[in-house]
Amino acid sequence: MSQVNEIDMTQLPRHIAIIMDGNGRWAQEKGENRLFGHYQGVESVRDIVEGCAELGVGYLTLYAFSTENWSRPETEVQGLMELLAQTIRQEVPTLNKNNIKLKLIGNIEKLPGYARDGLLEAVDLTEDNDGLTLIIALSYSSRWELVHAVKEIARDVKLGKILPDQINEETLRHYLATSSVPDPELMIRTSGEYRISNFLLFQLAYAELYFTDIRWPDFRKQHLFEAILNFQQRQRRFGKTGEQIRRESATDTH
Ligand code: IPE
Ligand code: IPE
Ligand code: MG
Repeated sequence: MSQVNEIDMTQLPRHIAIIMDGNGRWAQEKGENRLFGHYQGVESVRDIVEGCAELGVGYLTLYAFSTENWSRPETEVQGLMELLAQTIRQEVPTLNKNNIKLKLIGNIEKLPGYARDGLLEAVDLTEDNDGLTLIIALSYSSRWELVHAVKEIARDVKLGKILPDQINEETLRHYLATSSVPDPELMIRTSGEYRISNFLLFQLAYAELYFTDIRWPDFRKQHLFEAILNFQQRQRRFGKTGEQIRRESATDTH
């Protein structure tokens, strides 16, 4: 647990994004059904949100349900929706107590009414908080988000609000679901899968990627601290040379 003391608080990632993977396998390895894994996964969510709030991380994005996850068996989808609606409703007082603002990204229209209403209410009730911003990616996929953005841009071009020649990287950012959020600096995926699975493809362009074999229901603050420490040992070059980066950081600190 002492690892938290090794973290350089001046070099915290401003935004951490997590693909919470491995709930189903975790449960099946214990002879339980997949939903049991999702229920246990909620404990990890609580611990990691608390860890980020305590450290002072600005933004935490959790990938909770992808566009592609709608293709899972009906009972799993329904169980997940019920778990989600119930958890969010229960957690609102804790979110407020810890000054956490909830934000949703994804095609929320597709959610069953009871889940959508509860989630939107939780967003409203935490709107004035200005500590950690907790972003839940729900019914989300990056390709869905990009297609949606392109449609909106095309509509605004047609309305004469923007000219095609004026479209640049910032324009596209503005139309994404994450428009008011800085890009993630650290992306963590649990359970030993080494892929992005349609998550924040544009926003992760320069994120540091961290993969761990630990299944999501076993992931706790200490593992988050390990990931942050690993992140802090990396040199982020953004296309420049290592020498340039060393020179820049030397001038920054003098
Ligand atoms: C992640 O765990 C949660 C969701 C995708 C909803 P999984 O359900 O994908 O678990 P595995 O990967 O099958 O073990
Ligand atoms: C990614 O996990 C989506 C979420 C964690 C919500 P999946 O388990 O759906 O991803 P794949 O199918 O293994 O790529
Ligand atoms: Mg999975």
